[in-house]
Amino acid sequence: MSRFAPRISRRSFLKLSAAAPFAGLVAPKWAGAATLQYDLTAAESSIRLAAAPFPETKLWSFNGVSPGPAIRVKQNQPVRIAVRNTLAENTGVHWHGLRIDNAMDGIPFLTQPPIEPGETFNYDLVPPDAGTYWYHSHENSAIQVARGMSGPFIVEEEEPLQVDRELVWMLSDWRLDRDAQIVADFSNDRDYSRSGRIGNTVTLNGRQFNDLKVRAGERIRLRIINGANARIFSLRFQGHAPTVIAVDGQPVEPFVPKGNAVTLAPAQRADVILDMSGRPGDRYSVIDTFYPQAVFRLVDIEYAEGKPLRESPLHAPVRLAANPVPRASLSNALEKEVLLEGGDLGRARQQYREGRQQGLSEMLLINKFWAICGVAAFRQVMPPFVSARVGQSVVLDMKNYTAWPHTMHLHGHTFRIEDHNGQPDTVGQLRDTVWLGPEEEARVSFVADNKGDWLFHCHMLSHAEAGMLATVRVA
Ligand code: C2O
Ligand code: CU
Repeated sequence: MSRFAPRISRRSFLKLSAAAPFAGLVAPKWAGAATLQYDLTAAESSIRLAAAPFPETKLWSFNGVSPGPAIRVKQNQPVRIAVRNTLAENTGVHWHGLRIDNAMDGIPFLTQPPIEPGETFNYDLVPPDAGTYWYHSHENSAIQVARGMSGPFIVEEEEPLQVDRELVWMLSDWRLDRDAQIVADFSNDRDYSRSGRIGNTVTLNGRQFNDLKVRAGERIRLRIINGANARIFSLRFQGHAPTVIAVDGQPVEPFVPKGNAVTLAPAQRADVILDMSGRPGDRYSVIDTFYPQAVFRLVDIEYAEGKPLRESPLHAPVRLAANPVPRASLSNALEKEVLLEGGDLGRARQQYREGRQQGLSEMLLINKFWAICGVAAFRQVMPPFVSARVGQSVVLDMKNYTAWPHTMHLHGHTFRIEDHNGQPDTVGQLRDTVWLGPEEEARVSFVADNKGDWLFHCHMLSHAEAGMLATVRVA
């Protein structure tokens, strides 16, 4: 357990003991405010992704495992995460979905210098929202994430929901060759210009074959994270009615999705309550049905024989308390049309031909296939496409004028979906990542209350690498 376990940092331990004489008076607050410390070491490692007789797969990971260790803190609990880089290249770690200080957001060259080989960077965070988040490399991420550098980040509610068990399901996919090694074709035009890098091997918590042993009547909270580079999942729970209670960490009015299928685009999360309504000895499957030509069984659900845990579902609320996310005012918001353009088979009208930088052929030569508002981003050249005053309401009116899906993610803020012509069911949800199918439009609003330059990009990581990246300035 040692290498995954948080410890109270020495610094805050000293603070705590200094506070000891008053412990009787202010105890809960002091105790709650102690800084937890985690250590993450980015390193090469080998992990069994494919079953024997295949060899282990060489990865880059945190603490030798992928997914990396789950970071678990309480809402508003300060945590320090020391990231040590033992790789041969730079890195930086992003805490996806957490509304934290800009300097801790983990974006080399934008919010911090890169963590160079041999260096350590301390991330000091205070997560303001409870929920299911994750962390991943944000340097060279189309490669580093595809090689295994990600893990879950769980922020517990002050009042935990009553369940029998809680499980984290982190989904990833990998492109493996015949020796179960990662295919290093990260910058091929096809992935860049079409659906992104979709792997040939899917894992749940780093394993290819999974079973879930349950007892009849049990209530399980699942925290599902799509950590894949570009794959979309639609998990259909046979014989069960999964109740979604939060998306991207943010509580929703509990609902059972159509077809009992929980759909997650890259970087999206869902918290799901699963009441095990089968009988002892029953067997069911969780099937991924998103790509009709490649439906597969992800998890086998096996009911134990013997007496059910309870005869009818647990009688306890499943509604979560809202997080303190401010609501934007639409009447005086700064409104910006956000055109997503480019890619293969796209409309003829691709503005980056006339873009600031160069003509189409030159763009393609340097692997820039996508543009946001006419600009394909180059990493050190990313002038903000929106500049807001601190506290100002902002509306982003996204239009996907391409032939491919995109999952647009904003850093440092949580937005509210005001309109979505492709997925009207998501209107009203608070999210950090919204998924737009080809030719779809989505309008989101947020209060720009977090100072700094923040990334806004497609979370299909090869798309971001190939230009679909921009910044939003809050000053
Ligand atoms: Cu999941 Cu820019 O990040
Ligand atoms: Cu994209």
